[in-house]
Amino acid sequence: MISFNKEQIYIVTGASSGIGEGTALLLNELGATVIGIARNEERLNAMRNKCKYPENMHLEIKDLAEDIENLPQYIKELKNKYGKLSGLAYCAGIVEVKPLQLLDLHEMRKLFDINYFVPIMMAKGFADKRNNIGKGTSMVFIASIAGVHCDRAMTTYSGSKAALTASVKSIARELAPHYIRVNSVSPSDIITPLTSGVDGLRARKEPLYPMGLGEVNDVANMIIYLLSDKSKWITTQNYIVDCGYM
Ligand SMILES: NC(=O)c1ccc[n+]([C@@H]2O[C@H](COP(=O)([O-])OP(=O)(O)OC[C@H]3O[C@@H](n4cnc5c(N)ncnc54)[C@H](OP(=O)(O)O)[C@@H]3O)[C@@H](O)[C@H]2O)c1
Repeated sequence: MISFNKEQIYIVTGASSGIGEGTALLLNELGATVIGIARNEERLNAMRNKCKYPENMHLEIKDLAEDIENLPQYIKELKNKYGKLSGLAYCAGIVEVKPLQLLDLHEMRKLFDINYFVPIMMAKGFADKRNNIGKGTSMVFIASIAGVHCDRAMTTYSGSKAALTASVKSIARELAPHYIRVNSVSPSDIITPLTSGVDGLRARKEPLYPMGLGEVNDVANMIIYLLSDKSKWITTQNYIVDCGYM
């Protein structure tokens, strides 16, 4: 049985919706202190209203993509405010489904900002030994099946997730001597606001899954395992959570 205590402090990005929200709620239910980050204050508050231990759920309203260079400093500020950090679940992200001829460089860069540069700069801040608990620290980054199995019209999204998965492995190798673990999780189609935002996606994809589309907790449970000390010998991996889709 996985459990945490309130001295274990985890950052969860994307905590206002979908996989991030589910992860924040589950971590909190299992006893950890959670710092939930997102832009939408109303949705963050709604998430906190659902959680089991509201006194251990802290909210930070922030656009993570607005000042990427200073994210290591932001992590330091969070550590000063809440205490040394045990882990990070990076669940923020956006999707784009667009054929090659419609790609726009500005939009592509915006997607890469939140799906790639932000998580890497957060990892940089997190890896600073003044900010984390040292041995036992765990970072988990949500990539996507799209980074491995590249469907049409997913040029930018697939690229951002493949880049993230590759960099996670490099960072993990660098941090392993410090007993800091770094992994990624690559889900396929999970029922969240992100997938309902893509026209016809659910109807098109559902028949491909023998057990139906995934639910938020199908991914959140994997994230929790990787954050916990039950996975203390696991690092540098990319776990595919796809019901055999690939
Ligand atoms: N759902 C799926 O089928 C699926 C499959 C594979 C991979 N994924 C990946 O899993 C992650 C979560 O997806 P989801 O389905 O849970 O999406 P979602 O429900 O749309 O949630 C995305 C989260 O990211 C946050 N976010 C986006 N831009 C942000 C920014 N600039 N600053 C701070 N927070 C920001 C959003 O919060 P605010 O809007 O409040 O800022 C929201 O909480 C994404 O990386 C996605 O690519 C999802």
